[in-house]
Amino acid sequence: MTEIKVIGVIGGGQMGSGIAQLAAAYGHDIWLIDSDPAALTKATNSISSSIQRLVSRNLLSREVGVDALQRLKCSTDLKELHSADVIIEAVVESEDVKRKLFLELDKIAKPSAILASNTSSIPITRLASSTTRPEKVIGMHFMNPPPIMKLVEIVRGVDTSDETFDAIKTLAERLGKTLICSQDYSGFIVNRLLMPMINEAFFALYTGVATKEDIDTGMKLGTNHPMGPLELADLIGLDVCLSIMKVLQSGLGDDKYAPCPLLVQYVDAGRLGRKRGLGVYDYRKLPKPEKS
Ligand code: NAI
Repeated sequence: MTEIKVIGVIGGGQMGSGIAQLAAAYGHDIWLIDSDPAALTKATNSISSSIQRLVSRNLLSREVGVDALQRLKCSTDLKELHSADVIIEAVVESEDVKRKLFLELDKIAKPSAILASNTSSIPITRLASSTTRPEKVIGMHFMNPPPIMKLVEIVRGVDTSDETFDAIKTLAERLGKTLICSQDYSGFIVNRLLMPMINEAFFALYTGVATKEDIDTGMKLGTNHPMGPLELADLIGLDVCLSIMKVLQSGLGDDKYAPCPLLVQYVDAGRLGRKRGLGVYDYRKLPKPEKS
């Protein structure tokens, strides 16, 4: 089986930076790539403070934390990924952007490299079709935040080989994760169920069924969810939620997945959730949320 030493992560946003941090802490050499230099600065700062927090809480040893930071290299140049054994793509949830990226990656990555996508909803078979190595393309869907959440959802495209599946399964288990496997249909398992619930919470707010606080408290205390659907949408990013609903609507061909107009309006207004300080809730005056 392919030995996985060097991992490339593309996209230094909330997911890419978390995946890079997790894999570095488990002893992999990491190249973190983002087209935006400011995103890389933000990512290195957030990884470094997250590691410090984990060390101060005795959830990570100081040596492992220092080693992880040394293993992390950042660049805006995709070509740095030529030596990577596995490349995990975590850029914006847009099929167009991801397909263009997979086309490029196919030229840059060594022939044995596996190309994985952290997409929340876009069928892997479509991303794989931009490459000449569909057998080496797979979905590796981490949950937010990747260093803390225990699940990885693995998605096989139509042509994903057993060897690729086994290598990614082994990698995810070495990173301490529990796996579930999904067939390659829009939204896979988790977002097929989660996003319609979040969208319905927006409809409840939009049509005046209840306040945002009561909707969230209802689901937390009434159904034992650790976060309410609207708080969770703010954590995920309202732009990401909207993109996923559009993928569900077009991919599954049913208008029951049509995004709520209020969700669309918030995204139009730039209210993208915690990452912008404002979403359904206003975080600008609150102490910064605890991150991993
Ligand atoms: P984000 O908006 O925080 O970060 C995306 C990053 O990608 C940005 O830093 C941007 O500069 C960079 N980027 C965009 N196009 C690029 C390109 N062509 N080349 C290099 N870098 C590029 O997004 P987030 O939330 O980290 O999501 C990333 C992916 O992970 C999406 O596919 C999303 O659906 C998925 N995901 C998101 C989760 C969440 O809770 N936000 C959970 C699980 C998966």
